[in-house]
This record gives sequence, C-alpha cells and structure tokens, in this order.
Amino acid sequence: MSESTLKDFQTAAAELQRAACAAFDAADSADSLEKARAEFLGRTSGRLLALQRLVPSFEGADRGVAGRAFNEVKTGLEASLDARRVTLESSARTSAPKADLTMPSRGQFLGAEHPVTLVIEEIIEIFRGLGFTVATGPEAETEWYNFTALNFPPDHPALDMHDTMYLAKDVVLRTHTSPVQIRALQAGPPPIRVVIPGNVYRLDPFDASHAPAFAQIEGLAVDEGVSFVDLKATLTHFASRFFGSTRTRFRPSYFPFTEPSAEMDVECQLCKGAGCAACKGSGWMEILGSGMVHPNVLEAAGVDSERYTGWAFGMGPGRIALQRYGIPDIRTLYDSDLRFLEQVAR
Ligand code: PHE
Repeated sequence: MSESTLKDFQTAAAELQRAACAAFDAADSADSLEKARAEFLGRTSGRLLALQRLVPSFEGADRGVAGRAFNEVKTGLEASLDARRVTLESSARTSAPKADLTMPSRGQFLGAEHPVTLVIEEIIEIFRGLGFTVATGPEAETEWYNFTALNFPPDHPALDMHDTMYLAKDVVLRTHTSPVQIRALQAGPPPIRVVIPGNVYRLDPFDASHAPAFAQIEGLAVDEGVSFVDLKATLTHFASRFFGSTRTRFRPSYFPFTEPSAEMDVECQLCKGAGCAACKGSGWMEILGSGMVHPNVLEAAGVDSERYTGWAFGMGPGRIALQRYGIPDIRTLYDSDLRFLEQVAR
C-alpha cells in the first residue's frame, strides 16, 4: 500500500480521536455519554471498529505503524470516556436535591411503661416505704414449691392438668407467686418482709376477664408476734395510699396456705360504691387474697411455727389496672395497641 494511504489512515485516526473527545465532552448526562460511547467505541458498529478493520490491509512495517496508531487512539478514547464519566458522576452528586429543611418533622415517639408495670411499681413503692424489699423466684416450679409446701392436699383440684400447665412430671409453670413465699422463708431467718412481683400461668380461657398468663404481686411478713391486726392495718394503709382515701372491707375466704384467710375489697373506683356493671352492682371490687401464714407452710420451709407467725397477700396488678383506668376488657392489656397505651402512658 502506498505512503499516502498510511497517511490517510493516520489523518482519519486523528480526526476520529478529535471527534470522539468532542462528543464525550459535549455529553451532559450518563445517557448522552453512553450514546457517544456506542457511536465511537461500540463493539459491533462503532467508528473505532471501522478504523481497526483497515489495519490488516497494510503490508510489512506499515501494518505495525497503523496498529500502533490505532492502539493509541483506542486507549486515548477509553481514558477520556472514563474521565468524562467521573466528572458527570461527581456533578450529579453535588447537584442532587438537598434535604428540605422547612419540612415539618414527624414528631418523636417516646417509649412508655405498660399500665401493669406502672401499677406494680407503685405497689412496690408503697411497701418499700413500710420496710419491705423485693424478692423474685422462678416461673418454672416443682409441684412441691407450687403446691405441696403450701399445704395443698395431694388431691386438690388445682393440681389437675385442666387448671395447671405442666412442663414435665412434677414441674409446673407456677400458678401463683406464693411458691416464692417458701423460697423467702427458706432464705430466712425472720424477720422477713418481702413483696414478690412476677408472672403466673393458668389454663384459663382468654376472655374479657381471664388470661392464661398474668402478673401477680405477693407479700409476706413473718416475725415474732405478728398478728391479723398487722395484716389488716398494713393492707388498709396500702389501699388508702394506692387508691386515695377509699372504703375497704375484709371478707372471710379460704386458701390452703393461710388460716384464717380473707379477701379485701375496695369501693368500686368506677361508680364510687353506687353499683355499676363493672362491680356487678355491688359497689365493691375484690383486689386481693390474704391471710395468716398456715403453720404447716412455715414448718415445710423450716421455720419454727411455735416461735414465728406471719401474714401474706396476693393480688393481680392487671385487675387493678383495669379498675384504675376504667378498662372493661383485660385483653386490652395484652394488645399493645398504641391508641390505648398512649392514653395511660405516664
Ligand atoms: N396465691 C393466691 C392466689 O393466687 C393469693 C394469695 C396469696 C392468698 C397469699 C393468700 C395469701 O389466688
């Protein structure tokens, strides 16, 4: 091939390089840069490909010259394409829409304690003021702690599988917090004054007034010379602190682990004693079970029942929360519905 043909090739290469660089520089978006890339560097129909196809038509040393010229153009174009791409990307970043600082905020959501937790803490605070400390125990208990040591006869219906959740033979989910009385007595010696918050489990249907898992708070006071007068005075004081001055009454009751036993009622907080649907017209709400600790219970825990006496109570903070906040359905306490929780949050 003639000298002039190689010259033409070199001119065409220089021209191609100039045109491509101009096209890359003119591109003002990723899309237009891609179009320019396809026009010049496209693998099947790009203009650079047409130049490359001419290289084999040269003979001898000319082919080497043409090949090198082609390679130079190719690397040059790739470099300017990359440079332009980088420039476009960085200007896209800096011109991206900025945060709109005038937009109103969405407000903050603060966590809050559940009403049952609030009630438990308030109860604990009142008893703390009377010298009680907090004790806890396991939710999985042996039959012995949950029933036997608490003076339940072996054929008591509470031991039935229909009432109690068994985890294994002899191991139950505690049905009340009273087994922790035994643990507190074993940890003794008296004087003992503890309150025991915790969850308990019963095979109850989940309806407006029952839940299969619920909170209880237990109290236990054991010392020399402790009498029913202490029980009555302390629990009456508690009710007036918790509910504000309110009428209370004690009714005889029965629990295997206390003798004598009594339930305490407070004036219905919703109708102030007048009688309403919530108190079934009676004007009273039962808030706790209580009694003098049965001597068999003290003895089962290794405490001398000749020397020491004591009293205990158990109440359901869930029930009390229903009363306090005027909630008709216990399931509301388990729903985690923010519309409800926001109303009672402190
Ligand atoms: N453990 C009883 C219950 O769950 C409540 C109670 C506790 C009664 C302590 C008397 C003394 O119903």
